[in-house]
Amino acid sequence: MSPFLDLWSWWPQTALVIDRAETADAEDLATIHGGAFHRGWPADDFVAMLGENAVLAHVIRRRAGAPVAGFVLSRLAADEAEILTVAVDARLRGRGLAGRLLAEHVKDLMRAGIRHLFLEVESENAPALKLYARHGFATIGRRKGYYRSASGAADAITMRRELPPL
Ligand SMILES: CC(C)(COP(=O)(O)OP(=O)(O)OC[C@H]1O[C@@H](n2cnc3c(N)ncnc32)[C@H](O)[C@@H]1OP(=O)(O)O)[C@@H](O)C(=O)NCCC(=O)NCCS
Repeated sequence: MSPFLDLWSWWPQTALVIDRAETADAEDLATIHGGAFHRGWPADDFVAMLGENAVLAHVIRRRAGAPVAGFVLSRLAADEAEILTVAVDARLRGRGLAGRLLAEHVKDLMRAGIRHLFLEVESENAPALKLYARHGFATIGRRKGYYRSASGAADAITMRRELPPL
């Protein structure tokens, strides 16, 4: 194989596709969510949430027509939004998918007039903390021992990111 062809196979992100999530994606979202959290949400819950006007969700695929690789879902109220969940298929983590997804999601939140973005994360969740720090989230609160964790109990960290007007 020529070095040129090899470069393309090494650079898979060129084909990434990010779309608004649709109710048809609910089963995929439930599967990925169930693989990421102890208490998964059933597909019916995703159908209900995706039907809400106040919910904005995106899915990422490695290429057009591929299965959903990850998703992010936020609930909006006036000029505030909260990221309720973000998850990537366990087999596809550590490749920058969540970063790409979050960047696109935030752009769409800004188009919707969101100026204050919140989320909550477990203090022992290193990948998520890195993801949010890189995307400009700052810690604004901490609830001690809120989550049960591998080490006994972990804190819940509340984070905020301010978004400029478009
Ligand atoms: C958090 C999560 C969505 C990140 O998805 P991802 O596609 O693997 O994320 P990325 O590849 O964009 O990497 C995000 C950051 O985490 C880092 N990271 C990835 N895997 C890691 C690991 N096992 N340990 C520590 N850091 C890790 C990356 O280096 C990157 O940081 P950087 O930008 O400073 O280099 C994914 O790990 C996941 O689905 N976890 C389970 C669900 C979850 O915890 N969601 C967040 C709830 S608040």
